[in-house]
Amino acid sequence: MSRVAYVNGRYVPHNEAAVSIEDRGYQFGDGIYEVIHIHEGRFVDTELHLSRLARSLREVAIAPPMNDAALLVVLREVVRRNRVSEGIVYMQITRGVARRDHAFPKGIAPALVVTARHGAAFPRDIDAWAGTAITVPDIRWGRCDIKTVNLLPNCLAKQKAREAGTYEAILIDGSGGVTEGSSTTVWAVDAHGVLRTRQLDDHILPGCTRAALSALLAEHAIAFEERGLTEAEFRAAREVFLTSATSYVKPIVRVDGVAVGDGAPGPITRRLFGLFARHADGVGHNQASRLASAPGIG
Ligand code: PDD
Repeated sequence: MSRVAYVNGRYVPHNEAAVSIEDRGYQFGDGIYEVIHIHEGRFVDTELHLSRLARSLREVAIAPPMNDAALLVVLREVVRRNRVSEGIVYMQITRGVARRDHAFPKGIAPALVVTARHGAAFPRDIDAWAGTAITVPDIRWGRCDIKTVNLLPNCLAKQKAREAGTYEAILIDGSGGVTEGSSTTVWAVDAHGVLRTRQLDDHILPGCTRAALSALLAEHAIAFEERGLTEAEFRAAREVFLTSATSYVKPIVRVDGVAVGDGAPGPITRRLFGLFARHADGVGHNQASRLASAPGIG
């Protein structure tokens, strides 16, 4: 079955989908994006992703191309047309098309592209899902809290991870603190047994999976601290795991070739992997984001 994309108001065959060479996303990286996990035909954490999308748009002064209800219709339709029940939906909004000039052009409409693709089934075996990581310097800009399509430093970091045969590159900033992964949030159980993830500010993306997991931690009275780790604390951690819309809860069992703890997913990571799986399955949550209007899905 051929894939379908949404491009500026039209559903088109994926391999014919195209934007102008003067789209400011292409020329300047002047755009933002979101990735939502689709599991069993449901969007996971839809509201969190839509509110982060709105925030990113505000921060870069791009007008929303449509309201959330209309956007959800488009997202569902792209997912339906691609018959995705396990995978992701990707949306990108750029400032639009204009003659090349760094300053914002007046009177242009934002451009919206939506794609969906199949992914591997949600992991059930945490040991098989565990991965490894390297550390690299964080060379990104000062507003990493905005989910922009300017991802060149992230791509360079991820490529280093791939060349090292690992899953992720964990970024260390100029003052020796762990910020986040190239496309993931970093969590650790430190040497004292304290579950920690870095505090939110301009230097990391506020992860939606992090927000969902934080709510689960509160619900289950599991203590954690929003306090970044130094590189030394990170290297002494008992457990490390990552979260994202495509990594879920992903144990990291080796960093720079050195085993984390005993080299297997630790007890807290195991518990959170289980809690997040139930969350993704929709257990204990209403089914409002189920793609009920999407026959052929699930
Ligand atoms: N990446 N940090 C960065 C730099 C990211 O790019 C991502 C997400 C995250 C985790 O955010 P969330 O939990 O909302 O997915 C943290 C997506 C998956 C991507 O770029 O494909």
